[in-house]
This record gives sequence, C-alpha cells and structure tokens, in this order.
Amino acid sequence: MRILFLFAISLSLFQDYTQGQVPAGCDGVRNTEPLLYLTPQPLKTVQNGQSWLIQQDTNVIYLAKVKGTPYQMGYALGQLYGKEIAKNIKNLANYGYFMFKDKLNVLDYLTEWQSWLIFHFVIEPLVLFSLDVDYLVTWIYTPERYAEEMRGIVAGSGGKISYRHLQRFNLFAELSRAHCTILGAWGDATADGKLYHLRTLDWNPTAKVNEFPAIIIYEPSEAGSQQFANIGYLGLIGSLTAMSRIGISVGEKVMYRKDGIDYNPTPEWTYFGKPWLYVLRDTIQFATNLQDVENMLLSTQRTAMIHLGFASVPDNTFRGVDYSSTDLIFYDDSNYTRYSSTYHPQYDGIFYYDRHVQPSGSTCIKSILDSAHGSITPETLYRDVTGYHASGDASVVVMDPAGGQLWLSYSLYGAELHAYKRSPIYMNLNQFWDL
Ligand SMILES: *[C@@H]1O[C@H](CO)[C@@H](O)[C@H](O)[C@H]1NC(C)=O
Repeated sequence: MRILFLFAISLSLFQDYTQGQVPAGCDGVRNTEPLLYLTPQPLKTVQNGQSWLIQQDTNVIYLAKVKGTPYQMGYALGQLYGKEIAKNIKNLANYGYFMFKDKLNVLDYLTEWQSWLIFHFVIEPLVLFSLDVDYLVTWIYTPERYAEEMRGIVAGSGGKISYRHLQRFNLFAELSRAHCTILGAWGDATADGKLYHLRTLDWNPTAKVNEFPAIIIYEPSEAGSQQFANIGYLGLIGSLTAMSRIGISVGEKVMYRKDGIDYNPTPEWTYFGKPWLYVLRDTIQFATNLQDVENMLLSTQRTAMIHLGFASVPDNTFRGVDYSSTDLIFYDDSNYTRYSSTYHPQYDGIFYYDRHVQPSGSTCIKSILDSAHGSITPETLYRDVTGYHASGDASVVVMDPAGGQLWLSYSLYGAELHAYKRSPIYMNLNQFWDL
C-alpha cells in the first residue's frame, strides 16, 4: 500500500521526462552523438568564388561562397564543384532505379535484366518527360536568374554537366513529397531569449543525393539582394532550407489534407506556377522582414501544398504558414487554428508542425515542450526534438538567424543511417559573410 502510494507520488512528480526517459508519445531516442566543431579546409579559389570541405570521417559538408550576377555565381559553382554536381545528378537517377526495383519488388516478377530494360526504356523516360513537362508549365513563372545561374554552372563545369539534367534535377522536388518537422522558439520559450529555428527533412535517408550535402553562401550583386546561405545538396539551386545574413530563415514540410478537418478554402495542389524551391529562395534572397515575405508569397503563383516556417530577426518572431495554390495562412504563437490541449497546446514563443500530417494526434513534441518551455537551447532542438521525435531522416538543421550559427547533420551516403542519429556539425557563418 505504502509503496503504491509512493509510486503514485513519484509518478506525479516526475511527469516531466528526465534525460534517458522517453517523453510520452515519442518513439525515438535522444541523439547523444558528440557535437563536431570542424575547421573548413580550403579546396579551391576561382574568380567569383571559393570552396571548402568540412569533414570528419563520414561527416561531410561541401561549402562554397560565390559572388556576382546569377551567371557569375553559377559559373563559379560550376568551376568549384562541376564534377560533384554531375555525380549528384547521376546519383539521383540511380536512386530512381533503386526505388523502382526494391520498393516495388519488381524482382519478384522480373529478372534483373528485364527490370533494368523496363526502367531505362519506360520508367526513366516517363519521369524525365514529367520533369520536362513540369519545366514547360513553370518556366513563365520562373525568374530568369535561375536559368542564368544554371547556364553559368554548366559553362563553369567545362562540359561535365548537361543543362537539361541540371534543370530536371532542380524540379525533382516539385514532383516529390517529404514529411518534416518545423519548430520556431523565441523570447520566453528559449533559455537565452534568442530566436531558434529547427528544420528537419524527412526524405528517404537512402536517397542518394546525400553524397554531397552543401552550404552555398551567395552574395548576389542583383539590386535588393541579401547575402544568404542555401543549405541543401550540391546542384540544388532552389531552397529547401536557407538563412540570410540579416536573419530571415525558412524551412518547409509537405501538407496533406486530413479527413474530417474543415478547410476554407480547400487547399489545392497545382503544377502551374513558380516552383516552391525557387519561391523559398527568393524570400530569403530579397525579404527584409516578414511583411516582405508575406507580400512575396501572396503575389506568387503558388504550386505546392506545403507548410513553411519563417524566422525573422528584424521582427524578432517566427511564423508558420499553410501554403497552397488556393490559400495562404500565417500563424504566430497564439493564433494557430488547430490547437488541442491534448496534443498541441499553445505556448508563448513557440510555433511548430510535427512530422505527421497536420493536425497531428502525436503528443511527442508536446511532452518535450511541456518540460523544456522556457529553457530551450539549440541542443534541445538537435538532441531532444529530433531524436525523440525521430524526425530528420535526411537532414537536421538548427538555425540561429541572429548569430549566423548552424547545427546540422545529414543522413549517411550509401547506408541507412538517419540524420537525426548522427553527430551534429557546428558551423559559424560569420567568418564567411565578410569574405
Ligand atoms: C496570426 O497573427 C499574425 C500576426 O501576429 C497575423 O499576421 C496572422 O494573419 C494571424 N493568423 C490568423 C490565422 O489569425
């Protein structure tokens, strides 16, 4: 009896998880891999750019800084990383074959040789055709600077990269979908009152674009541009994740409609518009505050159904966004329309979307925030949220947009090891902004 009583007390006292215990509703474990402080090793210097390798064993990031017009920046990228970009494009094509063969179990029905023939003569041409059609229906909405940058990359690579392949590679995300987590924490929610932005990418961890994780720092000469870091993979010139020097950052996750949820208007997906990777990059390259971001997104011909997170140092706040071709809704830390006291309460200084379809019934992030609210640090984000919530299959990026700092990891190339289980790498961008 007494023991039961003590047990009940201790349960109520320790409802907050402590290290080692998995927070209620979570199915992952805390990421305890050591944080890596690595010195970028200079690789190459060309007229409008410079490259560095950040590496320890299999933890690797390809870094570059490029300057000038879109063509000049592209040319520099082609000179610096032409070979790697060509390989990355090839990797994505091979990944297509792997998905076809292994995920669809075609070897149960066909021989390896037959499946190779079908892939190369039927499936691959269909995918390439879809990407080419996507190009046709998006190009009038796509700013010329993207084509110029790609022409530059092709020319700078000295023949290693085909323009068409590069263009297809950059539209691939327009036709694919990834679950992810978005979390912004600021003000009263964080230990030091600073603004932090977590973006995980839950794309297949074995998707073979991860041989060349990249941070490209752009210093465009185009009027109205900010310096910014594009955080993704070599060859991808649109943005999955990006942060500008003045402290605006972005990340996204796919949005699906959920049965039983009221939408007004109903969000829709279209292929006719400006590819979302380019939309995101343009907000980071040109916006000087959240009002700019809002105006830009409103006036864009939008295609995809995605959720976005924007941190803004000029506004010292964060917004979640429901983005679709038919609607655009911004949320702060008090007016999300899908709150639930059981799985997604309101917290001052927090906005998040977890890795599931929204609104999600998972209580994992709630359990973490119930105990961490008020004392959130970058470590809470890259160790607890990503580890316990098992989010960040392909990459994890924690951004400090005011301080120009990043903590990031990528899945391991050629093996199945999720980014959220790997050592985070610390990066301070301040040493590169001024170069
Ligand atoms: C939430 O508040 C922000 C301003 O803080 C506003 O821009 C946005 O439109 C509001 N969203 C909703 C759904 O009320």
